[in-house]
Amino acid sequence: MDLGIAGRRAIVCAASKGLGKACAMALAREGVELTITARGREALEAAADEIRAVTGATVTTAVGDIATEEGRAAALAACPEPDILVNNAGGPPPGDFRDWDRDAWIRAVDANMLAPIFLIKATVDGMIARSWGRIVNITSAAVKAPIPNLGLSNGARAGLTGFVAGLSRQTVRHNVTINNLLPGPFETDRLRVTMEGMAVAQGIGVEALLDERRAANPAHRFGDPAEFGSVCAFLCSAHTGFMTGQNIVLDGGGYSGTL
Ligand SMILES: NC(=O)c1ccc[n+]([C@@H]2O[C@H](COP(=O)([O-])OP(=O)(O)OC[C@H]3O[C@@H](n4cnc5c(N)ncnc54)[C@H](OP(=O)(O)O)[C@@H]3O)[C@@H](O)[C@H]2O)c1
Repeated sequence: MDLGIAGRRAIVCAASKGLGKACAMALAREGVELTITARGREALEAAADEIRAVTGATVTTAVGDIATEEGRAAALAACPEPDILVNNAGGPPPGDFRDWDRDAWIRAVDANMLAPIFLIKATVDGMIARSWGRIVNITSAAVKAPIPNLGLSNGARAGLTGFVAGLSRQTVRHNVTINNLLPGPFETDRLRVTMEGMAVAQGIGVEALLDERRAANPAHRFGDPAEFGSVCAFLCSAHTGFMTGQNIVLDGGGYSGTL
């Protein structure tokens, strides 16, 4: 299927590794011109080189923390009028809510709720004026089924989800859609770091815990980030103008609900 987005411009946030990078790669394969962001320059440049080498796409980098005004300004300076915006940032740390002070909550809300909202604010009116826009927010399967020790993530991402539910119904008449992609377990650095913490807490080896988790998933494996990227590219395609405000879970069937 031709996704019909060759020549479109995209900002993909937090894209030097993992799910963000996979989304960038999938869009680049469709001929999208990219701006990718991350805090660390070296890994970001390496990701940009890899995407260019694999796809031949034009890739610009914007170094910065997307949870800050400066980081977002750098991304928007590199790509002032994106047709596609993929919002992403690192996830908040696990823990017990009794240990989180106001600053911990502000950091989570800044990264996982306000950063996407402010990037949407900066780009959505241009998309409306051009009658074409696709916004995808990478959130988490925890939005559907909260993970007890990820309260910061559960809370901040639920705030973004509620905001998007309202706005997405106001933009769709202009062919500007906003949807959320909810990852379950995907083989990324983030997954490994999270599992390492859990393994230590449980007094078992991380490989043993990873095997246990793979076996417990209905697919008997974790997701491949490339699978996530492909779905993201489809959501950003010309074919999804009638789809907005949706929360798409990619978790191998781990969320066990009928709807
Ligand atoms: N992988 C999973 O199984 C899974 C499951 C549920 C939810 N998620 C969520 O999906 C998102 C992506 O996860 P992932 O597994 O792809 O993580 P990852 O492999 O750790 O990659 C994170 C990427 O984001 C960048 N980044 C992190 N914080 C940033 C910030 N404040 N500003 C700009 N760039 C930033 C990182 O580069 P720098 O560090 O250089 O900035 C890196 O490129 C996270 O929010 C995570 O919580 C992941």
